Amino acid sequence: MNIADLLKSEGLLLQEIALKGWVRTFRSNRFIALNDGSTINNIQCVIDFENTPEETLKRINTGAAISLKGTLAESQGRGQSLEIQVSEIEILGDSNPDEYPIQPKKHSFEFLRENAHLRMRTNTFSAVMRVRSKLSFAVHQYFQERDFNYVNTPIITGSDAEGAGEMFKVTTFKNNNAPLTEDGKIDYSKDFFGKETNLTVSGQLEAETFAMSLGKAYTFGPTFRAENSNTTRHLAEFWMIEPEVAFMDLDGNMDLAEDFIKYVINYVLDKCKDDLAFLDQRLTQEEKSKPQAERSEMSLLNKLKFVVDNNFKRVSYTEAIDILRNSKPNKKKKFQFPINEWGADLQSEHERYLVEKHFKCPVILFDYPANIKAFYMRLNDDGKTVRAMDVLFPGIGEIVGGSQREERYNVLVEKMKSLDIEEEELWWYLDLRKFGTAVHSGFGLGFERLVQFTTGMGNIRDVIPFPRTPQNAEF
Ligand code: 4AD
Ligand code: MG
Repeated sequence: MNIADLLKSEGLLLQEIALKGWVRTFRSNRFIALNDGSTINNIQCVIDFENTPEETLKRINTGAAISLKGTLAESQGRGQSLEIQVSEIEILGDSNPDEYPIQPKKHSFEFLRENAHLRMRTNTFSAVMRVRSKLSFAVHQYFQERDFNYVNTPIITGSDAEGAGEMFKVTTFKNNNAPLTEDGKIDYSKDFFGKETNLTVSGQLEAETFAMSLGKAYTFGPTFRAENSNTTRHLAEFWMIEPEVAFMDLDGNMDLAEDFIKYVINYVLDKCKDDLAFLDQRLTQEEKSKPQAERSEMSLLNKLKFVVDNNFKRVSYTEAIDILRNSKPNKKKKFQFPINEWGADLQSEHERYLVEKHFKCPVILFDYPANIKAFYMRLNDDGKTVRAMDVLFPGIGEIVGGSQREERYNVLVEKMKSLDIEEEELWWYLDLRKFGTAVHSGFGLGFERLVQFTTGMGNIRDVIPFPRTPQNAEF
């Protein structure tokens, strides 16, 4: 049996129970707090220490794996309603208390990151990882219930969908030993794939081929970006969910993103009550250690409910610029990047001002200037904005980026020319506009940013099992 089921089931009192798990604490030579990972809750196991060999008692250390049998009883002690009166105990795997890094005390997240292989044995990380798992199931359930096709797009590609040049190269050439062309450049025609390749930054371009054939598709896979940004919201390897839908315009895209996010958050509010209650408490404690002015006004659970219960505010980029230009921090020169004119790219300080200070709710910004967005977004009739949208969240900033796609062949070719994107590279993408083109749209949701929001974790490195960031690829 696992502890989650045991604590849920009624009518097991006085029954014989067998459990396996890891010792969290052992006190007074009698009380083991046992956890098996199935729930945030431990079960108290009471040892009959007079009849347990001294040798065994010595081996019941924090971190040890044990197997035990006993009867389930109502607990006399405070802090729990049930306990196991142990009749048999076996040490499966010892844990040397002088060496085990995860002591029964508060560890810093930095320390736990260095021990990422063991940090899932703490309350916080086990809760985060269970919520992450449920969230990913909810993602599939949402799309599957709506007849979207799950598509696995390639991880190795020749394209840079976002045009930001932040790619990890994939090659089999050995150090300093690559064959060169006559003009001294590396000759990728002799490389494994016969061309230059990289790890994908997005599955969108390939997902579009599925939208334009199966109608509704989504990806959910790893993406890679070699951006050298050491922030609490960037990873070099992260998971992205990218739905793509034929015959859907930007309004439909905004509706889909909002409905989808609310669904998955609702799902975990329902399925992860214990873990979220724990994470809510944790965050409340953490907030108390901050100066008053920086504290969040809402608890984690209230934040989640607020997002689920309220409409996201939809605002055009042009309106947002007006708001920002006239905002207090802009006038008082508090922004690191002052907003002077239309066309400025928004930094996370601006996004957070709009969400946290001005609107105080999630915001969808749309119709951005064409020249700060990717090549594939549909040009508006004004000739200067594109049908882009970003969903901005409190504490996170951008959680979703998406757009209606440019479906007009000539307009797309012109755009690619102006950005020096070679037609030969994306001939197949252009074919979608040549044969049976249609309005279509989609977006990308950064899965880790969603997990961050849902669990209230401040650093994105703490919501993925083994983070990849600049200078760090341990484990
Ligand atoms: O806004 P982005 O770059 O959009 C795309 O890649 C589009 N092709 C998506 C589409 O329309 N199908 O990235 C989408 C989201 C961002 O909003 C953010 O949540 C997340 O991916 N993201 C990152 N998450 C973690 N670490 C990084 N380095 C990220 N870069 C983007
Ligand atoms: Mg973006």
